[in-house]
Amino acid sequence: MNINETISNIGVVPVIKLNHPERDAAPLARALCAGGVPVAEVTFRAAGAATAIKLMAEACPEMLVGAGTVLTTQQVDEALAAGAKFIVTPGLDPDLVKYCQSKNLPIYPGCTTPTDYHTAYKLGLEVLKFFPAEQSGGLAKIKAMSAPFPMFKVMPTGGISLKNLSEYISAPMIAACGGSYMVTAELIDGQKWDEITRLCRKSRDIVEAARLGNAVREAPRADMEGDNAPTSGQFMEKSTTTADKI
Ligand code: 3PG
Repeated sequence: MNINETISNIGVVPVIKLNHPERDAAPLARALCAGGVPVAEVTFRAAGAATAIKLMAEACPEMLVGAGTVLTTQQVDEALAAGAKFIVTPGLDPDLVKYCQSKNLPIYPGCTTPTDYHTAYKLGLEVLKFFPAEQSGGLAKIKAMSAPFPMFKVMPTGGISLKNLSEYISAPMIAACGGSYMVTAELIDGQKWDEITRLCRKSRDIVEAARLGNAVREAPRADMEGDNAPTSGQFMEKSTTTADKI
């Protein structure tokens, strides 16, 4: 499974800013993994982001730790040296995209306009960050952008919460949703690891329920009735197939 598929299967990407990586990175990584969310975008907005990436990856080797708010090739190098497996940028910088591509490092640049999407298409990208999602027009805009650009899967970030996660993740072009709602400064500063795990589990439940709902809606009606009614195992199979497709 490649990185795009792994992120898509998880369905949510915590956006993390750590002020005390030595204290918080390892327990936070363990809390996310315990909640079924073994992925993180660690933003370079905080000094010590590279240290946080390194400590999280060491604490949970199975975890996919990436770098966010990356603005320069120097930060890409720093992130890579720390063990980052992917790069997220707030906007679309073709030079930075090409730099990551030359290193076979997945990059998800923030794109919200037809011009951004067109440039991303020329760069051969397949998955984009849609940032800031709610402030840029939300799901309605993402859907409108998919008409001329059906080739992209997107990761909306900015304004996603437990309230709108289901709506976003149910849309077929959404690969995963990014957000800080499960890793707020308050939760991290208060070292509320159990609460972070609970919010991650809840998020995964929402993702799975939405995908299960899509799978059921996609199932042919005749299969749903009488002796042909699928068992819950078959629902899960259809849901997984759907999840694999997006
Ligand atoms: C980001 O850093 O990508 C977003 O600002 C996160 O947005 P949120 O805090 O609204 O989830």
